[in-house]
Amino acid sequence: MIPLAQSPEWRALLAHRDQLAPRHLNDLFNEDAQRFANFSLSQGKLLVDFSKQRVTADTLRLLTQLADARDLAGFLRRMAAGETINHTEQRAVLHIAMRADGHDKSYSVAGVDVMPQVRETRARMRALVDALRAGKIMGASGKLLRKVVNIGIGGSDLGPRMAVQALDNPNQRPAIEVRFVANIDPAEFATTVRDLDPAETLFIVASKTFTTQETLANANAAKAWLAAALGNADIGNHFVAISNNVAAAEAFGIAKERCYAMPEWVGGRYSLWSAIGLPLACAIGMDAFEEVLAGAREMDMHFLNAPFARNLPVLMALIGIWNIDFLGATSLAVLPYSYQLGLLPSYLQQLDMESNGKHVTREGDAVGVMTAPILWGSAGTVGQHAFHQLFYQGTHVTPIDFVVPVGDAEPAQEALVANALAQSAALMKGKTADDAEKALLAAGRSAAEAARLAPHLACPGNQPSTMLLLPQLTPHAMGQLLALYEHKVAVQGCIWNVNSFDQWGVEYGKQMAREILPKMLAGTGNFDASTAGLLAAIRAGRK
Ligand code: F6P
Repeated sequence: MIPLAQSPEWRALLAHRDQLAPRHLNDLFNEDAQRFANFSLSQGKLLVDFSKQRVTADTLRLLTQLADARDLAGFLRRMAAGETINHTEQRAVLHIAMRADGHDKSYSVAGVDVMPQVRETRARMRALVDALRAGKIMGASGKLLRKVVNIGIGGSDLGPRMAVQALDNPNQRPAIEVRFVANIDPAEFATTVRDLDPAETLFIVASKTFTTQETLANANAAKAWLAAALGNADIGNHFVAISNNVAAAEAFGIAKERCYAMPEWVGGRYSLWSAIGLPLACAIGMDAFEEVLAGAREMDMHFLNAPFARNLPVLMALIGIWNIDFLGATSLAVLPYSYQLGLLPSYLQQLDMESNGKHVTREGDAVGVMTAPILWGSAGTVGQHAFHQLFYQGTHVTPIDFVVPVGDAEPAQEALVANALAQSAALMKGKTADDAEKALLAAGRSAAEAARLAPHLACPGNQPSTMLLLPQLTPHAMGQLLALYEHKVAVQGCIWNVNSFDQWGVEYGKQMAREILPKMLAGTGNFDASTAGLLAAIRAGRK
């Protein structure tokens, strides 16, 4: 396959970009009264409006031609067939099997049907969750286990943590309260457990490798916390493990029958659907957890079957590439207009940036174009009082995904929805200096003052955004939304020809931390000048 930046499809998009550049989003809306209908798409109850993206029908045509030229269809076929598309770790990529029901499509790895293993894990999860929520599981002291603390980090934390908050019912106490500890900073463990009764607490140690420094440190802190309260009682009752490394979990002291396996063909940042979702199932119940799976499965079937021009993940992916590689956007803001979805950007950061934060192709050559954006964001409307000024009058093209659960028509919900629609519209329309001057004159300012102030009030507009409307924040809608973003990332990785499923960079960082820590503690080691200087300053400061 010829290098992406030299491909005729890429060159055609560059020429199209130059031709489209002088036109403002306002022009595109003025030219097509049906623009909303022509550039929005529904999948189930999820509506995605791309009409405020700086694209035309020609843009989308050229982008889908690029997808065809990069054999996106073949990539999807190979992924769903369980082929080793994570080639640097020699693994299949089949997180979609974790939410399959075995009816609509079967999945296999190396010729072995994976569904029996998937079903067995799901059945074991249900047995634990149902018993826990029915008050049938006791700890070492005979008290019922009623609180769950998930110990994990990255993909073993971000997904469940985000989804537990998103699907919580704010108006009633949960049957089982679930909390999360990820940071190696002892303060997070301490504050999380300080009001808990060890006798009632179950720890889930979630770690695909069971070697992650932060998770092992917190798991040992949990052991000590339990032992201090329960003595040498069998604290094993207070742990379950989720891992692909059951031997290491057993060595830690968690019995095999309390370990839930996580297949090696499920990447950490794609693992919410596996046993990593156990804390979520504890919080919302197994039936609701299976609704999350059903929502994702619905999106999977859409993704694997819809033509690219009517395919939500493909369109989101291609428009993202347009914004990054042709409009020069370096970041993507994801703004959930929902307090409970507030952790969505953090979850998507790992999904997107750890997947496609790559600079070499699958063959090891330089990609030659920009890849994953810096993904960030926070819940609306709070961000409007923090960083929206930059969107209005800054110097960056900053694409925005507004994620808006429409909910019911209660006033506070309506205010959230209205703000999201207003921001998206205002950022698209902008306000010319003339408009600003007229408004100042109408407000009684003098002509001289109006002329002086106008340039400071003008907003260029033309900021691209996508509006994702969810009916309600239901388990099903959550599954659809998260699967949509998973597939968007996979499509972008295919077009950029990078391996979206390994993370060698982060492994290097983990190795550096492992090397520095013991030497730092021992006061030895030959470090680079900066690290050596910093260590010396730290030691001096502690004398
Ligand atoms: O961030 C690196 C990483 O390996 C992620 O890919 C993973 O989700 C996280 O660390 C935790 O890894 P584990 O689940 O093996 O503890």
